[in-house]
Formats: sequence, C-alpha cells, structure tokens
Amino acid sequence: MSVQPRGILIVDLGTQYAQLIARRVREAGTWCEIHPARKALAAARAMDLGGVILSGGPASVYAGDAPEVPPELLELSVPVLGICYGMQWMCQRLGGQVKGSGEREFGHTSIAIDRVAGLFQAVEGRTVVWMSHGDAVVRLPAGFETYAHSDTCEHAAIGDPERGFFGVQFHPEVHHTVRGREVIENFLFEVCGMPGDWLPGSIVEREVARVHEIVGAHGEVVLGLSGGVDSAVAAVIVHKAIGDRLHCIFVDNGLLRKGEREGVEQEFREHLGMDLTVVDARERFVGNLAGITDPELKRKKIGKDFVDIFRQESLRFQHAHFLGQGTLYPDVIESVNVHGGNTAVIKSHHNVGGLPDDLDMQLVEPLRELFKDEVRAIGRHMGLAESILARQPFPGPGLAVRIVGEVTPERLELLREADHIVTTEIEEAGAHEGLWQYFAVLLPIFSVGVMGDARTYEMACALRIVESVDGMTADWGHLDHELLRKISNRIINEVRGLNRVVLDISSKPPATIEWE
Ligand code: XMP
Repeated sequence: MSVQPRGILIVDLGTQYAQLIARRVREAGTWCEIHPARKALAAARAMDLGGVILSGGPASVYAGDAPEVPPELLELSVPVLGICYGMQWMCQRLGGQVKGSGEREFGHTSIAIDRVAGLFQAVEGRTVVWMSHGDAVVRLPAGFETYAHSDTCEHAAIGDPERGFFGVQFHPEVHHTVRGREVIENFLFEVCGMPGDWLPGSIVEREVARVHEIVGAHGEVVLGLSGGVDSAVAAVIVHKAIGDRLHCIFVDNGLLRKGEREGVEQEFREHLGMDLTVVDARERFVGNLAGITDPELKRKKIGKDFVDIFRQESLRFQHAHFLGQGTLYPDVIESVNVHGGNTAVIKSHHNVGGLPDDLDMQLVEPLRELFKDEVRAIGRHMGLAESILARQPFPGPGLAVRIVGEVTPERLELLREADHIVTTEIEEAGAHEGLWQYFAVLLPIFSVGVMGDARTYEMACALRIVESVDGMTADWGHLDHELLRKISNRIINEVRGLNRVVLDISSKPPATIEWE
C-alpha cells in the first residue's frame, strides 16, 4: 500500500471557512486534512506532517467556550499558520497579549506590508484583505515581528521566521483577500517547504489498494449507482480494485430524466464492462405516489421504496458483505459549531435516496477524502464519460419533486419531454457553463391558449435556472432572451399538453431551488 503523502493539518476552531482553506491548500498541490481541536494532536501524529493551519473561529480567547487547542501543536517542529482566532490563541499561548478592541473590524480593509518575506514573499506595498476580528494582538510574543498593519490594526500579520510561526488577522482563503492565494502558497512552499506536487489522481492508487485490503481476495461489493458523479467514480475505483466482484445496482424508479437509464446502461455495462443490474421499479414507485400531493409524504414514500428494493436486490448477491458508497469528504468532516447548533439538520431532507445504517454490510467508501471537484478530476482521469461527470445535481426523489401536486405517468412524460428540451437547448448553446442547475418544473395549472384555430386548455411549465456554489444559497441565472424564446417555442410546439412557459426568478432564500 502506498504511503500517505506529506500534508498539512488544518485545525477547525469553529470557522465557516475550514473547507475553503482545505480547498485552497489542495489547489496548491498539497495534501491536507481537517480535524477538530480535540482530535488535532492525534491526527498530527498520524500524519506525515509538513505544517499546521489553525483556522479562525467566532470565539474570543477570553470566552469561556473558546476552543481548547492542544499546546503541543506548537512543539511539533513544524511551521504553524494561525488565522484570526488561531493567531490570537497562538499569540497568547506564546506569551504575547491579546485585547478586546471594543469594536469589530469586519470586511474589506487595506493593509500595508512591512516585511516582504515569509508569508509576504513578493507581496509588496498595500493590498486589500478580508478582515474579521473583535480582539487584537497588542503585544507580540518573544521572537515575533510585525509583517503587516492596517490603519486600525497595528499587527495585521505577525511572524517568527525562526520557528516558522505566522499569524494573520485576516482570511487569506476567501477570494476578497486579493493576494490570499499567494499568502497561502508562501506558507506552504516558502515556510513549510512543501513540494506542491500532490494531485487528486494520486489518491486513486491508494484507494484501490485500500479497497483490496478491506474487501480481501474473495469479498464482493454491491454499490447503488444513482447516475450521479459520486457513485459513478466510486464504482470505477472499486471496479479497478476487484473487477467482477463489484455488483452495481441501478434502480429505475420511473422518476428519472429522459435517457438517463439508457445512459447508465451504456456507460457502465457496455463501455466500462461492469456487472450492472437495472431494476425496473417504475410501476411500483409511480403507483405508490398515486393520489399523494404532500411533498414530504412523496419523499418518504420514495425513500422507503428505494430502501426496500435495494435491500431485496442486494440479497441476491449472497456473497456480498460490503456496500460501496460515494461518500465525500464534506460528509465526513466533523463539523465544529461553537454555538452548539446542528448544521446537519438543515440538509437532512436531502438524504432521500440514501441507504439506512442497518443494512448489516461493511462500508467501502473510496472518496471519503475528496472534494467534489477532485472527484470529477479523478473521474476524468479514469476515462468516465463527460455526460456523467458534467451532470447537474439531481434530487433522489427525481421528477416527483418537480411536479407540483400529484405525480401521474402522463405528467411525468410531459415533464420529461419539456425538461429534455430545456437541458439540450441550454447545453447546445454552451449556456450551462456557470449554472448550477437548469430544468423544467410541471405546474398543473390549466390556462387558455390558441393553437392554430383551436382553443387549448392545458398545463404550464416553469423554467428553473440557477447559479449556486453549493446549493445552500442560489440566485436565478440569466439566459439570453433568444435562447429563452427558443426553449419556450419548442416546448409549446412539441410537448402536447403544455401551452404556457414561465420563468422562475426567485432566489434561495427565501425560495428553494426545487419546487417541493
Ligand atoms: P433545495 O430545493 O432545498 O435544493 O434548494 C438544494 C439542492 O439539493 C438538491 N435536492 C436534493 N438532493 N435528495 C437529493 O439528493 C433530495 O431529496 C433533494 N432535494 C433537493 C437540489 O436539486 C438542489 O441542488
């Protein structure tokens, strides 16, 4: 088994930016892991450690609930970068002084670089940064010097070049900090001496070996393909490790988009040569939705049917004691919430389409250490079809949550045709770049129209075209008017049963991306 690459430990002290820091570090070709403070020391000792980044956080070093950082992190003989709270903690711990400044400084600030070295190698003059602090360092610990200041902050950046300890009172990881990328790269390359040659693809070999190790020489794995990127790339890795001992299951629930099932069959069975079982459960799912109009009830029914079917199908593979899943790093990072809230609850309804814990199978999760864009890069590297890699997010309950009210076979057919026109037109025009999702929603509202000489009385569809970074917030996306006109004309002319197309111009919040 290949060894873990040399990496950076990111200690999450309650910041909302921990994953962003990790992304920046990895974009700079450097392996890293995020851990909460109480696990940081054990993690540091288990890693081939090149340096530590202490994140920011909302606490004050004087607050009773301030995260306790293990002081041993400063005795590991590796460089440490403290960001905001991380800087203040380090400063206080090493004998400096931190004081409440009375007012919070938050947002864009211009800082002046006092020492063009260390973190600021080749960063001269003044530069704009994203500040966020209430407390401020008022006396430096022994060995430290000031590297930058602002009009209101005497020590906006500090450092002890001897030990490689640096602190910044701003967030280098956010894009508002104009030269943040250079600051992070300077820490990684100049201060820590990292080689910067890590690539997401280098994890494949390690994961293939790990799958071998978990599954053994004869073990078998079942894996549910959703048609999405994550399960697809997970399948490719597991397949590379164990070949025919991987059994993929794809459930056609009748709520899929046009051509989706055929696309999965072609890619996995024909192109990649995997053992794929396609379960045709269309009648069961759609039948069970008859008469149901409540969105939550729809989700529950679909979720239950999926679990029952998957359980039943996986029983056919008597020797398969392992379950492959496309779990990603953001799903496994222990989130730190110093305010005691539970961020996971907000998203829980999105787990529809997932599997319960009681399947009594051991998990095989080859993507556990990767971010979504890294998974895509690996998929591409391993030759997975672009149609799967570039696929927009699609909810587990599928088209059922894009038909307002009752789901019927006829309505599904209408929506499938309209949605196909929306996606193909947008993609052919190249207008999908930068969009998070673009799809049609069926509105069972009847309105009057004229078609030739005849009066029509038919349903409407809405176009939902959104920009988003992570689906948590979103804004409606702009499409060229001529493209919108073409989409509308085609839907009304080609999809019998629809005589009106409307455009959804609601942002999230307060609306959501899906209509149900
Ligand atoms: P909303 O509608 O909450 O959606 O703004 C945010 C993102 O999540 C997707 N979504 C789901 N994904 N199962 C999923 O796997 C679900 O039940 C589900 N509901 C919404 C949605 O497509 C959007 O990208």
